[in-house]
Parts: sequence; C-alpha cells; structure tokens
Amino acid sequence: MRRSTPACTYDRSACIPFLGLLLLGQQAVAQGTSATGVLVQLFEWSYSDIALECETYLAQAGIVGVQISPPQEAIEDPAWWSRYQPVGFTKLVSRSGDQAALLDTVRRCQAVGVQVIADVVANHMAAPPAGGTGTGTAGTTFQNRTFADFAPTDFHHWNGSTAGNCGVDNFADRVNVQTCDFNGLPDLNTTSSVVQSKLSQYIGLLHSLGITAFRLDSALLMSASDIQGFMGTAEASLVYQEITLPPRCTIAPQEYLINGKIVLQDYAYSMFTAFKSGQLQGLQAQPYASDKLIVNIDSHDLQRQSPLTSLTYTDGKLYELANIFMLAYPYGQPLLMSSYSFSAFNQGPPSVPVHGADGSLSCGTDQPWVCEHRTPSYKVMINFRNHTSQALVTDWQILMGGAMVAFSRGSGFVAINTAGI
Ligand SMILES: *[C@@H]1O[C@H](CO)[C@@H](O)[C@H](O)[C@H]1NC(C)=O
Ligand SMILES: *[C@@H]1O[C@H](CO)[C@@H](O)[C@H](O)[C@H]1NC(C)=O
Ligand SMILES: *[C@@H]1O[C@H](CO)[C@@H](O)[C@H](O)[C@H]1NC(C)=O
Ligand SMILES: *[C@@H]1O[C@H](CO)[C@@H](O)[C@H](O)[C@H]1NC(C)=O
Repeated sequence: MRRSTPACTYDRSACIPFLGLLLLGQQAVAQGTSATGVLVQLFEWSYSDIALECETYLAQAGIVGVQISPPQEAIEDPAWWSRYQPVGFTKLVSRSGDQAALLDTVRRCQAVGVQVIADVVANHMAAPPAGGTGTGTAGTTFQNRTFADFAPTDFHHWNGSTAGNCGVDNFADRVNVQTCDFNGLPDLNTTSSVVQSKLSQYIGLLHSLGITAFRLDSALLMSASDIQGFMGTAEASLVYQEITLPPRCTIAPQEYLINGKIVLQDYAYSMFTAFKSGQLQGLQAQPYASDKLIVNIDSHDLQRQSPLTSLTYTDGKLYELANIFMLAYPYGQPLLMSSYSFSAFNQGPPSVPVHGADGSLSCGTDQPWVCEHRTPSYKVMINFRNHTSQALVTDWQILMGGAMVAFSRGSGFVAINTAGI
C-alpha cells in the first residue's frame, strides 16, 4: 500500500464543497498581467530528450522553462513514484540520466533561452521494501530510516525512540501534517540544522550546474519556515511550492509566499468542474493573487487520482480547450503538462526515447509519449499571450447557458465553446 501510493496526493473525493466555495465565493475578477513565461513539465523525460526538445520545439514555441523529474538518487523501482522517494542528495543519478547529462541539458536549454526547473523532494526519504534493505539508482544501499547521509535521529520520530514515527492522519493538526510520516515515508526533520544544511548543499549542487529554478514537492508537509531555512541562501530565479490542500486543513497557502510562488491543485479542480459541467461562468473567480501562482490543468499526481478531479489528455478536445483558456487568460503563470500514455497507476515511463535516432517522434495519444505540450493550438496561444501580455480582460461574455465563454485582451479575442464535446 504505502509503496504503491504516491508521496504527494490525497483523497480528493471529499473536496467538492471546497471547490464550490472556490467557484462561487468570490465575484471579483482576479487577474493580472501575464508577463510571466509559459512552462512545461516534461514528466519522466530523459535529459537527452529534454535537451533535444528545448532545441527543436520549446524555444520556438515560446516556452521559457521545463520542469524535469526529481534529479536526486531515488529508490530503484520501475514505478513512476520511485522518483519521489529519495535515497540521497549527493549523487545525481536517476532514470533521466546522470549529472553530466543533466549539466549538458541545462546548458543546451539555456543556450536557446529555456531554463531547467528541478523538482526538489525534501520532505521525506524512501521507504525500503518491508523492513529490509533498499537500493538507490546510484547503487547506494539504505535501510529502515538509515541512509548514507541521514541517521534515524535526523528524522521526525516517536518520543523516546527513533525506530519509527506517527503517520499523517489529521489535516486539521499542523503538527501531525508537518512532523509525522506521510504514506509511511520517513519524514526528515527539516527543522534540524543538520538536515537543513544537507538540503542546502543539494540546492547548491543543482545551482552549480546552472539550475536556478525549483519546484518544491509536498511543500505543505513542511513548514514554510523550514523551507526558508534550506532555500534561504539560494539565489533562485523561480521557486514554486506544491500545495495540496485537503479538507479541514488549517495550514494557509499564503504562509508559503515568503519562499516564492505556489502551485495549488485548486485551479485544476475548478477547471475540471467548469469544463466538465459546461458552466464556464465560474472561471473568472479565483482567490489568489495572479503573480503568486503557477497554474496547471493536470500534473503527474492529478492524472493518477481516482476518481479523477482534473482534466487529462484522455479528455481530448475538452482538455485542449481548458489549456487554451489557461493560456489566454491573465491569471497565474501557466505550466503545461506533458505525459506518457498509461493504463495502470504504477506504470513507469516508456522504454523508447521521445526523439528517435532518425529524427522521428514517439508522440501522440496512440504513441508511448503523449506530448500534450506540442498541441498546435498551444503554440498559437503562447504567441497570443505574448502579444497581449499588457492587456486586461474586457468584453467578458458567457453564452449558451455557460457552455461558451468569450473575452477580449487588447486587440486579441478568444471564444471557447464546449457545447457538443
Ligand atoms: C525499523 O527498525 C526498528 C528498529 O530499529 C523497528 O522497531 C521497526 O519496526 C522497523 N520498521 C520497519 C518498518 O521495519
Ligand atoms: C510527542 O509528544 C508530544 C507531546 O505529548 C506530542 O504532541 C507529539 O505528537 C508526540 N510525538 C510523536 C511522534 O508521537
Ligand atoms: C527536530 O529538530 C529540532 C531542531 O533541531 C529539534 O528541536 C527537535 O527536537 C527535532 N525533532 C526530533 C523529533 O528529533
Ligand atoms: C514575447 O516574445 C519575445 C520574443 O520571443 C520575447 O523576447 C518577449 O520576452 C516575450 N514577451 C512576453 C511578455 O512573453
């Protein structure tokens, strides 16, 4: 159970009331100028594929940043979630490639104006197979709460014993959320100066490779001040913290703004609700400041939730229209998703590369890699966003009982019709 569950998802089935609030609670138009570039998550892509993608597509399409899968050493396991179970922070060897390949990719992407964004998993370490010894992707072995870089005392633990810890089971209790083990994964004591200094060294190592942009995984499971403790000295160009707010959670997303931006799943949920129901009138109301928010329609976590509460590539045109809205509307900094096709929760990435040696692409809904970000209309909309970056939304119109939305931005005009899809 614990090893087949992702490290950063929660049961969303109880969240619908919260969504209702999000959509109906605020009538004011939340928007800002979109002077922030479009990003893409190339989930589980190899470094060599990412470098080729920067050079052959992303730069021309106007995409300015690419979020890679976590680069640290992780538990050796074919499932996608293994990337989110760190074994160590000194050897950058993962399924995507080694440190030399990462450095090459950072340089090649930067050369064409695309920055690499590292996904940083700092909250917890890996759980070994039931009580035994585990192996990392760089060959490092580890045991139950004992790693090359961390001793049992470096983890949150029971009072009087370092052998184990409480489990996260009460989102109304901040201490429970931020100091207990989530899904059985040993929870690093991110308050401790020993742990903070090791995490800072990891950020420094990434920095030395030229990486200045960071996504912080499972941020809610760490206190904002702990994150500040290990990120504080990093000269980051962009930081966004993954915040998944379960019902009754008493931790406020705003606490995390001291460290940078936040990426909230609520945006994806509200888009799902609006587009699935054909009730687009709620799309204007969002409660957070535009310049503090990264927005996405789905992510590697969201597209594996059951039941689904986000749109994914399996929604076809509806998914495309939601992305078009996200790119057209000046709210938040958009993060496009790029997936591989999967039919089982644990399924890891395809074994074939995205870019074939002959220049062919393994991309499409009938291919191993989906490459949603290459949808032709997104390129058009990134250009639209660029040309209308200083213009606010005017002429907001809801037609056909909510199934159609249209609005202007300066000399640009967008109309989105979900009827019949
Ligand atoms: C971890 O090791 C401790 C002893 O150090 C033991 O009490 C505990 O049950 C072990 N936990 C697991 C999950 O094996
Ligand atoms: C340790 O004791 C404190 C005070 O009773 C309690 O709040 C905390 O949850 C305990 N920690 C664990 C891991 O059981
Ligand atoms: C975590 O670290 C803080 C700061 O060093 C310390 O006060 C606290 O006791 C530690 N918690 C555990 C469970 O060791
Ligand atoms: C628009 O695109 C141009 C050319 O790629 C780029 O220099 C500029 O920064 C972009 N502006 C915005 C607001 O995205």
